[in-house]
Amino acid sequence: MDRREFVESCALGAGSLAAALSGTAWAADTKPRSYGRVLLMDEHGRPLKAASLRAQTNYVFHYPFEATPVFLLDLGKPATATRLVTREKQTYQWPGGVGPQRSLVAFSAICAHKLVYPTKELSFISFRKGAAVNPQTPSKGNDLIHCCADHSQYDPARGAQVLDGPAEQPLCAVLIEHDVTTDQLTATGTLGGELFDDFFKKYEMKLSLEVGPNAKQTVARQSTVRELDRYCRNPVRC
Ligand code: FES
Repeated sequence: MDRREFVESCALGAGSLAAALSGTAWAADTKPRSYGRVLLMDEHGRPLKAASLRAQTNYVFHYPFEATPVFLLDLGKPATATRLVTREKQTYQWPGGVGPQRSLVAFSAICAHKLVYPTKELSFISFRKGAAVNPQTPSKGNDLIHCCADHSQYDPARGAQVLDGPAEQPLCAVLIEHDVTTDQLTATGTLGGELFDDFFKKYEMKLSLEVGPNAKQTVARQSTVRELDRYCRNPVRC
């Protein structure tokens, strides 16, 4: 156990003890869900190196299903563990960023409001370096994930918690591991409020056209990471 994990486990333990002593009934924690280990690859078919990621740049890969996109971000600053809650009132402890600077994070790119997601043709949701410039929807901070559909704003440095807009819960976190020896990244599961069932129900026809019959299949072994600007023809900014 490294120092951060030790501190986090102490914090969790102290919190549980305090709750027990005060008689506070906390909602049950939602647990990480494992979908198998998937190695992240670059566009040339080689294992992606974390050092090759450009800071504050949108990258997309698919996990845990062939049709479910994920944002991979190097925030350029450490992302610390954050306690969050789903719309079902389940709490969870997002573990923070990984990598040498603890700056690498990954979140499902399916907006928690009406399930907008990046496709090859169009994306209304993305990370924005600095503040959003739209005067109608002033940014609640810098370096946030914005959904331009109805202007939800998520803070990726705090587990994608909602800072503004109609979304009722953070983006579902995708758990990644960083191998310090190889500098490779592996997706291992999810944590938080999943919306995959709703997503597949809402977009069943569309996904079968976009992705084909394997849309609901879990990704096996490897997933390719691409810059959003290379993956999507029309990334919308707001
Ligand atoms: S779909 Fe993203 S804010 Fe409505």
